Amino acid sequence: MRQIFICEVGPRDGLQNAHHLMPTEAKKAWIASMATAGIEEIEVGSFVPPKLIPAMADTAEIVSFALTLPNLKVVALAPNVKGFERAVVSGAHKVTFPVSASRAHSLANVRMTPEQMVEEVRRCVELRSQLRANTDPEIEAGVSTAFGCTMQGEVPEDDVVRLAVMLAEAGVDCVALADTVGYANPSQVRRLFAKVRKEIGGKLEAAHLHNTRGLGLANALAAYEEGVRHFDSSMGGLGGCPFAPGASGNVITEDLVFMFESMGVPTGIDLDKLMEARKLMVAAIPEEPVYGHMALAGVPKGFRAAV
Ligand code: COA
Ligand code: ZN
Repeated sequence: MRQIFICEVGPRDGLQNAHHLMPTEAKKAWIASMATAGIEEIEVGSFVPPKLIPAMADTAEIVSFALTLPNLKVVALAPNVKGFERAVVSGAHKVTFPVSASRAHSLANVRMTPEQMVEEVRRCVELRSQLRANTDPEIEAGVSTAFGCTMQGEVPEDDVVRLAVMLAEAGVDCVALADTVGYANPSQVRRLFAKVRKEIGGKLEAAHLHNTRGLGLANALAAYEEGVRHFDSSMGGLGGCPFAPGASGNVITEDLVFMFESMGVPTGIDLDKLMEARKLMVAAIPEEPVYGHMALAGVPKGFRAAV
């Protein structure tokens, strides 16, 4: 039984920031291979204007394909009501909204203040209540730049807590804290997760961590020790927000899986199959820089997956 729930965000967070477009058929094969490796949740794309992020133009087709894969929770990002409506039509199981704690990043990313973005999310929650039961997706809000922002600098922890409370009150199912630009350190991760959990309890779910300053795994471990069991990560460490200067890749899925499995904490993911999936990804965007210690060093002799 898995104790860690990993949501692979490479097809969205990764490809939105990649210099090379991954062809639609290659995306499908990559996503299918990750599902075969045991990843049960994949953020497969985003419903943003295709002109803004051409790499996400095929998201409806990708969602529709991903829905055919057994035991996979299909997630898509939406930045507004229009994106949410497109996500509902696509049949995605879960929709995630980027809600920045930094006003500067919020304006750059979604052209709304954090408060306006909360209202946008609230409208989507209301829209959902009018849907038929089998068409209503789970709604997540990811609090972006929760640990600092390359434009604003420091992001006060009280602002993050207040935003998380507003989102919980708006009716989202779960809230994630995101280190969009890789500023977080392990003490800060522990402190902020504890503070937010004190206010919104079990609605606080995932840690979305970027590895920009090399602290991704340390931060993930800190979040784990603080009780977090849901993690976003990206194969090959792809990732970054095109509207947050200096943002780079997420915590690397392969390395995160290795860390937990070698600690005896099951992720439900088969590391060898995951490395096979990585080969498909690399072959589909061969010129894109990819990262990962597991890929460089290999699985240790005598390694046993957690049971
Ligand atoms: N999907 C497709 N088209 C959309 C859309 C969506 N979710 N939202 C708006 N549009 C279209 C509008 O219909 C309009 O089209 P038109 O010019 O043909 O009339 C056009 O885009 C502009 O719409 P507007 O509402 O004025 O949007 P905007 O230009 O103020 O941009 C966002 C606002 C939120 C759509 C945009 O900033 C965005 O997508 N941000 C997300 C960026 C992102 O993905 N960041 C990385 C993830 S963290
Ligand atoms: Zn991210």
